[in-house]
Amino acid sequence: MTIDVLSIGSFPEATNAGLASRFAVTHHLHPPVPDALAPELRDRIRGIATEANRGANRALIMALPGLEVISLFGVGTDNVDLAAARERNVPVTNTPGILTHEVADLAIGLMLASARQIVFADRYVRDGTWASQGPIPLGRTVAGKTMGVVGLGGIGRAIADRGAAFRMRVIYSGPRRKPDASYEYVGDLVELARQSDYLMVACKGGPETRHLVGAAVIEALGPTGTLINVARGSVVDEEALIKALSGGLLGHAALDVFEREPDPAPALLQLPNVIVQPHHGSATLETRIAIGQLMIDNLSAHFAGQRLPTPVG
Ligand code: 8YV
Repeated sequence: MTIDVLSIGSFPEATNAGLASRFAVTHHLHPPVPDALAPELRDRIRGIATEANRGANRALIMALPGLEVISLFGVGTDNVDLAAARERNVPVTNTPGILTHEVADLAIGLMLASARQIVFADRYVRDGTWASQGPIPLGRTVAGKTMGVVGLGGIGRAIADRGAAFRMRVIYSGPRRKPDASYEYVGDLVELARQSDYLMVACKGGPETRHLVGAAVIEALGPTGTLINVARGSVVDEEALIKALSGGLLGHAALDVFEREPDPAPALLQLPNVIVQPHHGSATLETRIAIGQLMIDNLSAHFAGQRLPTPVG
């Protein structure tokens, strides 16, 4: 019997092929409004396979009477209406663990790119400034500086370990101290930022953490501080960030995520002290293929009546 699955987002070829070999797949790049799906199709769909940053909203979940499972490609659950899924008794799965080191690598890359001006330096050579004006202005050292990690979950810890390897002092904040972490816990986020040279945002998104990094935190990080966000754009108050960056109250920012994706606030893109990236923390071929496999494994397990490998919650 064919099983209809709605796939949403952009997956590696191997993932698309894996889905197509097991299911009758209807693909949409963005979560479709229910009316965009023919009524007979709506009735047939039993599973959703969706990128974590696209998710599935209440309207879609409620419009599919035969929906049995939602399998996320990625780890963040903030774009799925979990309450709607619960009401419908639809389990949600994600892909924890797989992308941890990839995202941590990008966070460190962004820290180094800011400190050592890697993006600016590339332009400096290409546009002839090196030839016409000589050596580039001096960058900053990371060794011996303090890295503050906002959220010591899997990704936060991987960033922290890398910070320690770069001979930085590492401190962290979060809802509670982690007894098995050797890094110093600084519960108050403003105080964490005050002590930090590089503030690494690695907590989860969603209403609980919305604008957690606001004006007070940003200003505590200060004119020589750098804010790095590889978590969710919603965690940082972007208006406050833009104000601080343009008014000299914050040194630099390096951002892989934005309040508005994929078209971040134009004011942010005008600033010279910002590095921007297209939400690609987990985007390597190897990792994305592994994410896709686990997403498919979760769907397959559900339809085979087996235990879900990685259910949410
Ligand atoms: C991806 C992510 O951007 O896992 C997450 O929560 O944000 C990402 O890894 C995306 O979901 C996969 O395309």
